[in-house]
Amino acid sequence: MLEQLGIATLDDLKPNSRVVITRVDINSPVDASTKIVTDDSRIREHSRTVKELSGKGAKVVILAHQGRKGDPDFTSLEQHAKILSGILSWPVRFVPDVAGEEAKGAIKSMKPGDVLMLDNVRFLSEETAERSPKEHSRGTLVSALGPLADYFVNDAFAAAHRSHASIVGFAAVLPSAAGRVMEKELAALSKVAGKPEKPSVYVIAGAKPKESFKVAQHVLSNGIADDVLTGGLVANVFLKAKGFKLGEANEKLLDQKGFAQFVSGAREMLGRFPGRIVTPVDLAVEIQGGRSEIAVDDLPTNHYIKDIGKKTVELYGRLLMQAKSIVVNGPLGVYEEDNFSLGTREILRVLTKTEAFSVVGGGHSLAAVYKFGLEKKLPYVSTAGGALISYLSGEALPGVEALKAASKKFS
Ligand code: 3PG
Repeated sequence: MLEQLGIATLDDLKPNSRVVITRVDINSPVDASTKIVTDDSRIREHSRTVKELSGKGAKVVILAHQGRKGDPDFTSLEQHAKILSGILSWPVRFVPDVAGEEAKGAIKSMKPGDVLMLDNVRFLSEETAERSPKEHSRGTLVSALGPLADYFVNDAFAAAHRSHASIVGFAAVLPSAAGRVMEKELAALSKVAGKPEKPSVYVIAGAKPKESFKVAQHVLSNGIADDVLTGGLVANVFLKAKGFKLGEANEKLLDQKGFAQFVSGAREMLGRFPGRIVTPVDLAVEIQGGRSEIAVDDLPTNHYIKDIGKKTVELYGRLLMQAKSIVVNGPLGVYEEDNFSLGTREILRVLTKTEAFSVVGGGHSLAAVYKFGLEKKLPYVSTAGGALISYLSGEALPGVEALKAASKKFS
């Protein structure tokens, strides 16, 4: 049991010979032309939950999504089943159906320990309707599969911000528990997002100011973070709000991306939380393909800003070394380009040296962690993107709320 949240875990189930509908989030990067999955890290993560359930004699029915309707990565889960089978060294049967006769027949014929993957749950249009658990429990998916199952396990923390049928519907009708990934994410995040050990520092960077501002507002207003260190385009917005002129190319980029609208909000935040939002003191710009560093006092520049500078790395490093809890969300520069990866890499390296508990998360941060080979050296790396932002912004996640409500029935 996850005590502070009142959520049951796999330890509370008796899965032997029982049908366990297991929602995982194996939504993976897919090559747009070949449709081949290019990164199996989420499949690897969830394989632990599947292995444990199957090892305990459950009949594991996996539900998952891939992509969004209309997008190039909206594909069948056939290859995900093969990849999972390879990771588990155990057969994973795939049926190209979600809630029809083929899916139901496959579930009925399962034996203890069997693993079955149904097709992309988003092939059912009702899946993505944002409805309440009760409403979803009366829909096609839950009405078809619910009566065949004994338990529901939600392991899909990364999709828990969606009130989708497969995320919330089964929890309304079946004894439900968090899988190991969900459990691990909630345990780690509660350490940095509830009442973190102080000082607590959030590094908020990347190219999504709207989401970043939501997180910054929440953690600063609620005394969760003592300092917010900024990087990436988020830092450019704050620098502009402080009155720095970034130069034509950079200002144009902010306009094109629609980020200029956040400048007045950033100014207001700087006024509300004086000295607590830290911006870079120097920056790396691109000159003829190379890296060149300038102090922010030398702004404006005619060149694109692509990273924080070395003095900023030192400053942020010092602040992080004093912290007891750290969150890093978003890269501090264009880490994909070797000339501009220094800021992101060095800040992540600091996390491997401090005693602080840290969480790194968000799609791009995760990719950066892997690029620099730091995945095993960091205390906690989250696989979530949007769900992490919602959680860090203090929003209730429908998938987690549904598990809490279901766990009450459970006991
Ligand atoms: C993710 O990759 O963040 C999750 O799988 C959720 O996907 P979605 O944003 O398409 O709902």
